[in-house]
Amino acid sequence: MRFIINEHSIEADVDVRTSLLDLLRDHLGLTGTKKGCNQGACGACTVLVDGERINSCLALAVQYQDREILTIEGLGTIGDLHPLQAAFIEYDGFQCGYCTPGQICSAVAMIGEIRRGLPSALTEDLALEQIGFSEDEIRERMSGNLCRCGAYNGIIEAIRATYA
Ligand code: FES
Repeated sequence: MRFIINEHSIEADVDVRTSLLDLLRDHLGLTGTKKGCNQGACGACTVLVDGERINSCLALAVQYQDREILTIEGLGTIGDLHPLQAAFIEYDGFQCGYCTPGQICSAVAMIGEIRRGLPSALTEDLALEQIGFSEDEIRERMSGNLCRCGAYNGIIEAIRATYA
């Protein structure tokens, strides 16, 4: 099977019952994507597929051939962090860090969702608050990503600071 992961074309021979999460972690060594509940409840396994966020633990890898899959490894590197990754560090958006890759992937997708819903491409660079997105709405849209350490305030601050 052929997958497009972080802009690389990758061949992998996996069982049709393999989840996308297990493909990433166990077959391809992309362990930035985390396994929490493994049943669609925590969001730790969030990745982007064609710009939309999904829980990769619930997805069969075979269904995602030739789709654009983006994991935390594709967002930034240690020497070249994505702005949201840098903001999570600056605003203490984590404690243990286990949920962080999923949180960041989810937030990146959320911003895309919000901007795709806007009437004009001209609004692409406007801050979230300028387009009427309150902190409460951001919290609601991020509610599928749980943080057992309770670092929610830092997570929301990091998102708001990045897209302000
Ligand atoms: Fe997929 Fe929890 S590990 S939602």
